[in-house]
Amino acid sequence: MARKTIVAGNWKMNTEASSASELLTQVLEQVPEVQGDVLVIMAPPYPFLPEAVERASARANGGVMIAAQNCHHEGHGAYTGEVSVPMLASIGVQACIVGHSERRKYHAETDRLVGLKIAALLKHGLLPIYCCGELREDREQGRQQDVVAAQLDQALGGLPKEMLPRLVVAYEPVWAIGTGLSATPEQAQEMHAFIRSHVQTIGGAAAAEIPLLYGGSCKPSNAQGLFDCPDINGGLIGGASLEADQFVELVRIAQHAKADDDAPHRS
Ligand code: PGA
Repeated sequence: MARKTIVAGNWKMNTEASSASELLTQVLEQVPEVQGDVLVIMAPPYPFLPEAVERASARANGGVMIAAQNCHHEGHGAYTGEVSVPMLASIGVQACIVGHSERRKYHAETDRLVGLKIAALLKHGLLPIYCCGELREDREQGRQQDVVAAQLDQALGGLPKEMLPRLVVAYEPVWAIGTGLSATPEQAQEMHAFIRSHVQTIGGAAAAEIPLLYGGSCKPSNAQGLFDCPDINGGLIGGASLEADQFVELVRIAQHAKADDDAPHRS
């Protein structure tokens, strides 16, 4: 996809039917008119996806896309408990998070497997939001770029090059997820610039247009500095996406950062 500013909310395993409905209502009512190149994505748990799709698509001014938090790489078959990409497509889900560090940690997902999921999503026209990022000890030992490069190589290296521009990459340092300890704008920008150049070595020049999201304790109090960075095109938001006020504020901050970027071109 052409480079967009994206604010994506990953609800993880939170909410139940009534609270999911309420959160959807609050976000859809409060989210500002989403303009131009800004896209809002919400990723509720599977059971709440049909309602979310229906309500987001009923929104008069659009701009809100619904994502799943995971998918299986096969289209159908004897995989008890799994959800396939064609199932998601058949209910109107347009995007899917893959490779989240919690899937890697608790479900032993590897980048090779995640690469298969990305291929399945692209085949069915869904937008993959591929998560990568290093552990605390990787950063302490200064090997964060090597770790992220290996993740990108394994997950994206097998994809046809022309498909690479059709995905979103989220850099989520594992030490920052749910810890309250965000990467600094300098740390995040440095890694995003590295990711942008590395995806080009894998996918060619067109891959430079991939939106790169930052994730890991991103909230209204620290988002401005992050979203202002040239290679950060928005955020993948966990905890703060469960509070409509905070999530909507993050959308506003991203819109302003984008508008400021565009300003010189308009004059
Ligand atoms: P967090 O989660 O914002 O709660 O740190 C981010 C994520 O896991 O996507």
